[in-house]
Amino acid sequence: MQTLLPGIRACVFDAYGTLFDVAAAASHCREELGDRWQPLAELWRTKQLQYTWLRSLMGKHEDFWRITGDALDFAMASLTIRDQTLRTRLLELYLNLDAYPEVPQVLRRLRNSGRRTAILSNGSPRMLAAAVEHAGLASLLDAVISVEEAGIFKPHPSVYRLAEKHLGLPASAMSFQSSNAWDAYAAKDCGFRVIWINRFGQAKERLPGEPDAEIADLSAVPDLLAPL
Ligand code: LAC
Repeated sequence: MQTLLPGIRACVFDAYGTLFDVAAAASHCREELGDRWQPLAELWRTKQLQYTWLRSLMGKHEDFWRITGDALDFAMASLTIRDQTLRTRLLELYLNLDAYPEVPQVLRRLRNSGRRTAILSNGSPRMLAAAVEHAGLASLLDAVISVEEAGIFKPHPSVYRLAEKHLGLPASAMSFQSSNAWDAYAAKDCGFRVIWINRFGQAKERLPGEPDAEIADLSAVPDLLAPL
């Protein structure tokens, strides 16, 4: 049986792919994209993450909104989609992504158990505010933290330190939840207790920082924390 994580006073969530469905924007354009909606969604996301890592290594930071647009342009060019109206619509939809269905209830349970809740994300402050507002999560979150304050993307350790600064707690008193395995491993390496939300049935990473627990969606997060 899974050992319950002790002394967790705050729960910090990754945003894209963990709370919000990043495929939702392309999925809402199925009619226009036909059977290319899924390849577009996958390439868009893959390139978006690559650009965060590449720009961080190059020391050429731009915010996640710019990167999301650049990645979309790359994905559309790769699939020879030239419709600029569709580009505008996809980006607008990215500001209003659907939250996964279990999210509000999980946040509510965590808050009712006396814990604080927060987002720590690559997203720019404007993107995160829009997504949180659209999903009706504002009243369920104590902090929405953007990497913009650190001026570099995950998995740079300075990003994870922002959660300690904003919540006034050591990493060891916080659980970090991400569906992005590399993000989960990096948070663990920075001292958080980590629950990897393996929504996509991926293989374990070969990176430092094995997560403390692995579950398929967020529903069981409150059950993995020892009572305070
Ligand atoms: C984020 C990306 C990693 O929200 O999904 O930070």
